[in-house]
Amino acid sequence: MPSTSQPIAQSPAKPSQRKILVTSALPYANGSIHLGHLVEYIQTDIWVRFQKMRGHECTYVCADDAHGTAIMLKAEQNGLTPEEQIANVKAEHEKDFADFLIEFDNFHSTHSQENKALSELIYSRLLENGHIASRSITQAYDPEKQLFLADRYIKGTCPKCKSEDQYGDNCEVCGATYSPTDLINPKSVISGATPIEKESEHFFFKLPEFTEFLKGWTRAGHLQSEMANKLAEWLDAGLQEWDISRDAPYFGFEIPDQPGKYFYVWLDAPIGYIASFKNLCDKTGKNWEEYWLDDGQGDPNLNNGTELYHFIGKDIVNFHALFWPAMLHSAQFRTPTAVNVHGFLTVNGKKMSKSRGTFINARSYLDHLRPEYLRYYFAAKLTSSVDDLDLNLEDFIQRVNSDLVGKVVNIASRTAKFIHKSGGKLSSTIENPELWQTFVDANGTIAQYYEEREFAKAMREIMNLADAANEYIAAKEPWALAKQEDQAQQVLDICSLGINMFRAIATYLKPILPEVTEKVEAFLNTSLTWDSATEFMSGHEINKFKPLLTRIEKEQVDAMVESNKQALAPVQAAPEKASGLAEPLAEEIDFNAFAKVDLRVAKIVKASHVEGADKLLQLTLDLGGETRNVFSGIKSAYQPEDLEGKLTIMVANLAPRKMKFGVSEGMVLAAGPGGKDIYLLEPHDGAQPGMRVM
Ligand code: 2FM
Ligand code: ZN
Repeated sequence: MPSTSQPIAQSPAKPSQRKILVTSALPYANGSIHLGHLVEYIQTDIWVRFQKMRGHECTYVCADDAHGTAIMLKAEQNGLTPEEQIANVKAEHEKDFADFLIEFDNFHSTHSQENKALSELIYSRLLENGHIASRSITQAYDPEKQLFLADRYIKGTCPKCKSEDQYGDNCEVCGATYSPTDLINPKSVISGATPIEKESEHFFFKLPEFTEFLKGWTRAGHLQSEMANKLAEWLDAGLQEWDISRDAPYFGFEIPDQPGKYFYVWLDAPIGYIASFKNLCDKTGKNWEEYWLDDGQGDPNLNNGTELYHFIGKDIVNFHALFWPAMLHSAQFRTPTAVNVHGFLTVNGKKMSKSRGTFINARSYLDHLRPEYLRYYFAAKLTSSVDDLDLNLEDFIQRVNSDLVGKVVNIASRTAKFIHKSGGKLSSTIENPELWQTFVDANGTIAQYYEEREFAKAMREIMNLADAANEYIAAKEPWALAKQEDQAQQVLDICSLGINMFRAIATYLKPILPEVTEKVEAFLNTSLTWDSATEFMSGHEINKFKPLLTRIEKEQVDAMVESNKQALAPVQAAPEKASGLAEPLAEEIDFNAFAKVDLRVAKIVKASHVEGADKLLQLTLDLGGETRNVFSGIKSAYQPEDLEGKLTIMVANLAPRKMKFGVSEGMVLAAGPGGKDIYLLEPHDGAQPGMRVM
């Protein structure tokens, strides 16, 4: 079935082939991918797919960010080695990304031999260049766990408003900021021990020495202007030396010649971009140095003719637009062509919330909805600015159904049947050349919007084309003409233009909708390439039309939100019991929801009455290294002293709940009608704190 193409106008000149390397931020290996993360991966993936469609050599790499205290503790909490922890999470992340049609050329890990070697190389250059200082500093230390404590691992009473259970750096109740030493009755979140102060030697990157370099770099077109302005404020306020070391125990790379000292996770994380690319190059024979080593020509945008783009969220701009270019510059590596920053995701106009069910994990979305719906919705809202982006769930349903199903798919479904009735071959006549010309002219405009990350503008332009196509078909009424025998050619001409307009639109949507594209390519019996979108397919045989995309039903979205509520919210009745004792579950839940409940053996190390509470006891639970504070409504059945030393079962991954008497960090399991008849569940002898209940 050879097709003859009939160009009626010059398509925009094909730009020469570029060599482009693209990264998205590396997700931490201690948690699941959620819709907030996906804004960035979808944005980057669309941009990369577009570049590839344009014929450029574009490579997209990422990796898991595998180091640091949080991952070390998470592994311990899960009863795993850090290596096992990061391997499990990597498999989960890779599956989530693949199912969202995020197509990395390589997905690696920062805990890799390439990253170790590159981190050591870059550090050795910073050292040689005199950009590393060392001195002793005093920090909070957990004497039980024998671990230095970052501020977020210390809690105590706010020195200002006296609220209990506040983090070491700020009070969530009154908003005061302070240092952990100001907290009243500070406690290590990890062991419950009172922190002591301890000195140790740390290594610092001398960032202030790069102030002039960074003032120039941040103003040289590598950043959005909002970001450049923000950074100018920081640069004017004066930069501080950056602490790049951490003491053992730490999961990371040991600093060469400094036993017991490790690179801080944020030192080796961005080097992970290079490591992932190098890992790919070692497999494919590409040259990583061409993209990363300074070619000495003084053009950071086009080092050896290669371009480098990082896509990140606005919360990590200091790491990518200050520390990172300074490190690269000192180590004689090239600096990025651009750091593209996006805003945060809100859902229904608010911060994502576990209790509202709007903190939606990638997997949970995929259990209910197709990835392309979200890819399109995000594209329809993404701009090149750092503004936050809202996923309004009502609007999501309406927009996707109206644009993709109602407008785009409709063009093909209304016209294909008439092509088949006349033998399956498209006409050679362009029924309305002016209309077709608008589809040809849009090619360059839409390409420009994609290039500039103005996806919302591109989607608007594409939907304008879809409206024009639908209006044309509605005005021509081929279904009415088809009833008149002498109008057969006219019907074929109209519907052939319809199919050609559909093909152009589908091509312009290809970076957004990879699965739909495959179906369209099968239907149209051709592959969709950017340039050929402007060539009218005449005399070309097409295949039978099959449904391309179904509508989103509100029930699917409701079920997704509901399942997130079920998985994450406490299931309780009486407010005072709210964080202590599980109530019977009334509703059926599916296995996936149940599997999300992390049940653990816990030892009650301390139990006490709560002043002013009728039903609650306060329990300090040992989870095998981690201590939790839990309020439990079992006072009517137990004396605190009878509980101390007992083992019980707790829900360990219940979101902390602020109660009148403090924050409850989990829930113990008990059964019984109430009053004296409440029986705490106790495992048999041999169970150890921290063991997972299976
Ligand atoms: O903020 C984060 O989630 C980090 N894991 C991002 C790291 S990006 C890069 F620098 F590695
Ligand atoms: Zn306070």
